[in-house]
Amino acid sequence: MSAAIRDRPAVAANAPRHFLDLRDFEPGLLRAILEAGRRLKPVPRDARAPRPLAGLTLGLMMEKPSTRTRVSFDVAMRQLGGEVVVLSPRDMQLGRGETIADTARVLSRFLDGLVLRTDDPAKLHELAAHAGIPVINGLTARSHPVQLLADIMTFEEHRGPIAGRTIAWCGDGNNVAASWIEAAIRFGFTLNLATPPDLMPSDAVLDWAAREIAGGAAGRIALVSDPNEAVAGAACVVTDTWVSMSDDPTENRHTRLEAYRVDTALMERAAPDALFMHCLPAHRGEEVSDAVIDGRWSVVFDEAENRLHAQKGLLSWALGGPDWEGR
Ligand code: CP
Ligand code: NVA
Repeated sequence: MSAAIRDRPAVAANAPRHFLDLRDFEPGLLRAILEAGRRLKPVPRDARAPRPLAGLTLGLMMEKPSTRTRVSFDVAMRQLGGEVVVLSPRDMQLGRGETIADTARVLSRFLDGLVLRTDDPAKLHELAAHAGIPVINGLTARSHPVQLLADIMTFEEHRGPIAGRTIAWCGDGNNVAASWIEAAIRFGFTLNLATPPDLMPSDAVLDWAAREIAGGAAGRIALVSDPNEAVAGAACVVTDTWVSMSDDPTENRHTRLEAYRVDTALMERAAPDALFMHCLPAHRGEEVSDAVIDGRWSVVFDEAENRLHAQKGLLSWALGGPDWEGR
């Protein structure tokens, strides 16, 4: 265990179980959440099946568009016996100046958990600081940790333990890339990142990873500019959109990213049984070719489905109370 994890102050036993970033967790708890997700994977068709979250309600507060995150959290709650309220900040008093702190205090009186998707990570942290219920990061401009729970689950279902393996990221050093960096440190794998020099992951996440590695974490991060170098022999190649929801859509990033497209020639440089992963939505013909996303390497729809199962594991822990039996 790294010094940074060991030195973290203990969280009060009755503190809400927020899920803001992978870096906040020791590997054992992340593993236990994934294991709970695997156990909860079979869909309970039997009316007598246990419903661990019966009587609980999750709020989904989406300031940005979403297909997978919104539907997978909604269905996950239903499969665990709970209910969901979808909140559009446009329709809330938040949009007319009510503070985030007061919104958090009020929603904590109605709900048992809250997922927030927003551009601004500070807003997520402020909500969590004032909420008496678990707050879950449903994507910010900085990170997308719930995506990584599904990604790790998917890799391991297809190829076994990810620890010690090499994963290659090609493209924009964006929010999903930042969560892959945190995952590499927490799950102990090597992450090769090939990004244009001006679209590298932030210094903040790279410095954090360097400190964790210096403190004894097993993961490794390698930054390269050549995608061929990043994918050489890799067990999995990952990419994401070249223009994220928080990016300026009028800025032309495509010319800088053309060389990072994941196509057949690039996949053929990876390991012979390499996987291709993408959080979706994909922009076919931009960051990935049709031949790759529809080809033998691709597990993108298993990955999308695992959003549901990994989040059942997450919700069972976050809303499960002190008797959670996940470990
Ligand atoms: N991957 C992902 O988070 O998809 P959505 O934007 O559709 O939620
Ligand atoms: N990087 C993308 C991920 C979408 C799930 C975005 O932030 O738009």
